[in-house]
Amino acid sequence: MLRDATAADLPAIAAITAYYVEHTAIHFGYQPPTVAELAAAWAARDRHAWLVATAADGAVIGYAKSDRFRARAAYDRSAELGVYLAPDHTGRGVGRQLIAALIARLAAADFHLAIAGIALPNPASVALFERAGFTPVGVFREVGWKFDAWHDVGFWQRRLAPADRDTPAP
Ligand SMILES: CC(C)(COP(=O)(O)OP(=O)(O)OC[C@H]1O[C@@H](n2cnc3c(N)ncnc32)[C@H](O)[C@@H]1OP(=O)(O)O)[C@@H](O)C(=O)NCCC(=O)NCCS
Repeated sequence: MLRDATAADLPAIAAITAYYVEHTAIHFGYQPPTVAELAAAWAARDRHAWLVATAADGAVIGYAKSDRFRARAAYDRSAELGVYLAPDHTGRGVGRQLIAALIARLAAADFHLAIAGIALPNPASVALFERAGFTPVGVFREVGWKFDAWHDVGFWQRRLAPADRDTPAP
């Protein structure tokens, strides 16, 4: 099941994120986010969406959220997406559901462009976003240093507004 995240979900979101921070270079953090840091980001999410996927018993098994791509005003209607599942819940279509729901929410909120930055290699994430209609933009080589190695990050994008509509700025 998918639903909007609430403040009560933030410890579960922190725990899922912590796994990827501590064990992989998929997430570029060196320290797992604290619940307080996530609470501040959640409170400041504005038009961005934070969604969680839950198991039959209600436990949070993954989340997807969006954030500003960059700070300056002209980027207001571009959203960068993030999606993380608990490691024992991957490969069963949950990521696809979360990204489809997040895209629908962003389009309804009049965002113009969705962006995914993926530390490479990550075949599951590349497949997920390409199946969801994202196209590759380019790769920053050696842009991140983690676990004693440089890592490349590829970017993918998907336009959210219909191709025949040049949406005016809000
Ligand atoms: C990336 C991630 C969110 C994908 O979610 P998922 O639930 O595992 O993926 P799904 O089962 O929804 O599959 C989505 C598509 O990717 C494909 N896919 C999934 N895992 C794959 C893999 N390891 N290699 C290649 N393709 C894969 C599926 O076949 C599916 O394509 P289809 O619709 O044509 O069948 C999830 O694996 C995850 O949390 N990974 C670790 C964290 C991560 O990498 N987050 C993204 C950071 S950019």
